Amino acid sequence: MENWINDIENIEFESHGPVRRLLKTVVINPLINYIPAGITKGLLKLTKSELAHANWNDPGGWRSMVISYEGNPGQIADKLLVTGGSVPTALRNRKRLGATVLTKLIEESDSDDAHILCLGAGPGITIIEALKRANGAAHATLVDISNDAFEYGQQLADSEGVGHKVRYILGDVRNIDDLLHEPPDIVTMIGICEYLTDEQIIEIIVAAASVMPAGASIVFNSISKRHGTDRFFRRVFGLHMNHRSPEELQVLMSEAGFMNFTAIPEPLGVYHMIVGRRKA
Ligand SMILES: C[S@@+](CC[C@H](N)C(=O)[O-])C[C@H]1O[C@@H](n2cnc3c(N)ncnc32)[C@H](O)[C@@H]1O
Repeated sequence: MENWINDIENIEFESHGPVRRLLKTVVINPLINYIPAGITKGLLKLTKSELAHANWNDPGGWRSMVISYEGNPGQIADKLLVTGGSVPTALRNRKRLGATVLTKLIEESDSDDAHILCLGAGPGITIIEALKRANGAAHATLVDISNDAFEYGQQLADSEGVGHKVRYILGDVRNIDDLLHEPPDIVTMIGICEYLTDEQIIEIIVAAASVMPAGASIVFNSISKRHGTDRFFRRVFGLHMNHRSPEELQVLMSEAGFMNFTAIPEPLGVYHMIVGRRKA
């Protein structure tokens, strides 16, 4: 993994300067955390915030991820939240970091046609980017409990020239051993652990481990409270995220059969992307 350092250093991350960080800590975060939730919700409804509606309809769902990833919403409230908010900015960094890590794993795979299994995939934006960039054959199976995102994902993959490399499966990832007939070389759990309890993560990881050969990679992310807006997300968006350190997640993953972890932070320190290997 040492030879990845250049690729990671060359990622065009977004970061916040010292003045903005100070303003957020002293003024903006306390304001958005402590203004009565009814007032903030009213303002978001009045300004027709797509991000707020996406979260109210499906807290932590794929649509709100896509709005943050794209980073160019139409509504004024969304512009402020998506371009200035720490979580949306860190999400775009996570996508860039995830795509680079997956590209490297595909290129380092011993397989002639690496198989990537994406759990809780949504439309699969990060893996589509990696499939487009990787030098080396690869294909992905994308599993989600809801098929809402599949049409959007397939169209995106088609437009990026990798439509023939993705296959969407509707299903609960806890039953992955029943859904899958081809062992994966790489498994991803991006943007999902923060919405699950420890017990649910272990259930999913044990199921994933059962279809993975020894040495296969798993890629997942942690989230820390460094964004400073957990109270806002819980009260206004109805989003209850479970914040865990990379070490806490690694303990769960090792209980379920993984080892040799490497954790890479994005510059805001909100997310770490973590790679582990299936034990023999
Ligand atoms: C926040 S989205 C993340 C989507 C994508 N991985 C990304 O990073 O943009 C979480 C996704 O996990 C899916 N999900 C949650 N629990 C699941 C389960 N038990 N089985 C399959 N998918 C699940 C949701 O439907 C949702 O699309």
